[in-house]
Amino acid sequence: MKVLVTGGAGFIGRWVVKQLLHDEKQVWAVDNFSNGQPSNLAEFNGNSQLNVYEGDAADSPMMNRLFLENKFDLCLHLAANINVQDSIDNPKKTFLDDLAATFTILEAARPTRTKVVFVSSCMVYDVSPDAGVDEASPLLSRSPYAASKAAAEQLVQSFSHAYDLPTVVLRPFNTYGPFQKTTAEGGVVAIFIKAALKNQPLQIYGDGAQTRDLLYVEDCARFIIAAGYSERANGQLFTAGSGRDICINDLAQLISRDKSKIVHVPHIHPQAEIQKMLCNPKKAAAILGWRPRVLLEEGIQKTTEWIINETTH
Ligand SMILES: NC(=O)c1ccc[n+]([C@@H]2O[C@H](COP(=O)([O-])OP(=O)(O)OC[C@H]3O[C@@H](n4cnc5c(N)ncnc54)[C@H](O)[C@@H]3O)[C@@H](O)[C@H]2O)c1
Repeated sequence: MKVLVTGGAGFIGRWVVKQLLHDEKQVWAVDNFSNGQPSNLAEFNGNSQLNVYEGDAADSPMMNRLFLENKFDLCLHLAANINVQDSIDNPKKTFLDDLAATFTILEAARPTRTKVVFVSSCMVYDVSPDAGVDEASPLLSRSPYAASKAAAEQLVQSFSHAYDLPTVVLRPFNTYGPFQKTTAEGGVVAIFIKAALKNQPLQIYGDGAQTRDLLYVEDCARFIIAAGYSERANGQLFTAGSGRDICINDLAQLISRDKSKIVHVPHIHPQAEIQKMLCNPKKAAAILGWRPRVLLEEGIQKTTEWIINETTH
């Protein structure tokens, strides 16, 4: 099986690549290294099953050539500009990276009939009810990032209907784990762990009552790959999270070593905040047989070990 992973040198992408290589697939990773880096794939150097290409997913001549030359069985499309604040400051960049690039991928996949799994985001949802959101829950785009993902989802589904192209749309929840950036572009878990290790303040935006359903990155990668392998998934949409949400205040308590270091600061983009985010992943369990395996406490431990290792080497 030949699999193309766009955004393959990114945080989640490198775990997807790792799992695919473990499954003995032939893998192509395309990345423009705008946020990912070659070092994320260093573990697989010398693996003849992996081909790494520097390139832009929105570059149609390059993508068309890559698809025609290699006739991929599957494309896992993760490349995106993921920064919500960037999308508010520079919506055109997000439009090009997240929506236009998805169109390029779909057009490239059409002649070779390559199955496309589009990795969207939980950010497309409106605030979650107590039972959590599922695939039928209402959407509300609070940022150009969310809007580009929601629009790209529609585009992907239109290719399934209009051209009978096998596609799947996925909405993973906030993902954390080793290889996530610990700088401002990273996720809250990585940022808090790094701050705690350096005995620096853990800065909570707003009152900290907002909740997140945090998904460990290897669980997220398994979700993406399960959708890719499953024929029953074709034409469908799935959401995945841990099924448990935690407010940011409690997350800071869990991670901090010195509670006096927890501080509240004004939110940088309060207009894009979603107050409660909780997933009900029952459809992924029923159809893909997917269930999260790593508990938050265990995932924080694994992430902490990785960050300690990174900063001491
Ligand atoms: N991290 C999360 O919490 C989360 C949650 C839900 C969905 N997602 C989605 O998962 C995917 C991967 O996210 P991530 O957290 O690994 O982010 P990431 O930034 O680490 O990975 C994205 C990768 O895509 C690359 N890229 C960006 N634009 C590109 C382009 N035009 N052409 C080629 N490569 C390009 C970046 O360099 C990066 O390596 C994204 O689509 C994101 O929207 C992430």
